[in-house]
Amino acid sequence: MSGNEEQIEYWNGKAGETWVTAQERVDAMLAPLSAQAVAAAAVQAGERVVDIGCGCGATSIAFAERGAHVWGVDISAPMLARARERSAGLDNVAFSEGDAATQSYTPDHQLVFSRFGVMFFADPHAAFANIRSALVPGGRLVFMCWQAPRENPWMAVAGRAIQPYLPEPEAPVDPQAPGPFAFARDAYIRDILGAAGFSDVEIVDTRAELHIGDTLDDAMAAQSEIGPAARALAELDGDERDAALAAAREALAPHISDNGINLGAAAWIVSARA
Ligand SMILES: C[S@@+](CC[C@H](N)C(=O)[O-])C[C@H]1O[C@@H](n2cnc3c(N)ncnc32)[C@H](O)[C@@H]1O
Repeated sequence: MSGNEEQIEYWNGKAGETWVTAQERVDAMLAPLSAQAVAAAAVQAGERVVDIGCGCGATSIAFAERGAHVWGVDISAPMLARARERSAGLDNVAFSEGDAATQSYTPDHQLVFSRFGVMFFADPHAAFANIRSALVPGGRLVFMCWQAPRENPWMAVAGRAIQPYLPEPEAPVDPQAPGPFAFARDAYIRDILGAAGFSDVEIVDTRAELHIGDTLDDAMAAQSEIGPAARALAELDGDERDAALAAAREALAPHISDNGINLGAAAWIVSARA
């Protein structure tokens, strides 16, 4: 037991299916950030790469197209099915259903990469110690994770508007609990990677404007699909859900411009050596 059972259930349930439906739109939206993470990974043809939490496979396929031998590991069966479908015809990429925290690795990969797939471990210290075992000595770890909600209006504008409609949490919320913002604090990332035996840790502030939708309706549909607003909305129903949706719509409305709704996003690109 890795303690990740809740996440396994989450990513194999409605969330995983929604990510599959939304895959093209999500990849297009994340492209300005993703391109920076892929560039930082500096993959060379022939390298062996593990893509942790590869989801629907965008970055695994990007690396395979550069000539690397890529292994995508994810806990979500529906997202992996989409990844396999998209990569049909590429014989240098393979996908497995597995928990990256406990998966057994061979120490023969030059790069372990992740685009927003490493913030969901119940025990990140143990998970990263295990992940390091996939790398050759001196091999590279490169991942992208979100900075704090206040730095991410693309998620926080609607998220904040919905907040008053949610039930009071029974206990104080741990900002480092598994979830999109678990690695918002760079000192926490350094602590985890240092304890796991990584060296040369660098954490780079990486920003972009993300295109949330062409219209307010598009943006509302997108925010109801994935991300913190969608997670919050899933907890509501009836009149309360309608009121929360109306509040999110009102909060997004001032951001409409001639080229739709575009909001700021801030991530960390973290790199280290085994
Ligand atoms: C935010 S999504 C990102 C997916 C993909 N990397 C992308 O950028 O489109 C997070 C991914 O991490 C995966 N994930 C969460 N916990 C995991 C674990 N313990 N082992 C492997 N994958 C995990 C989820 O199933 C999901 O595909």
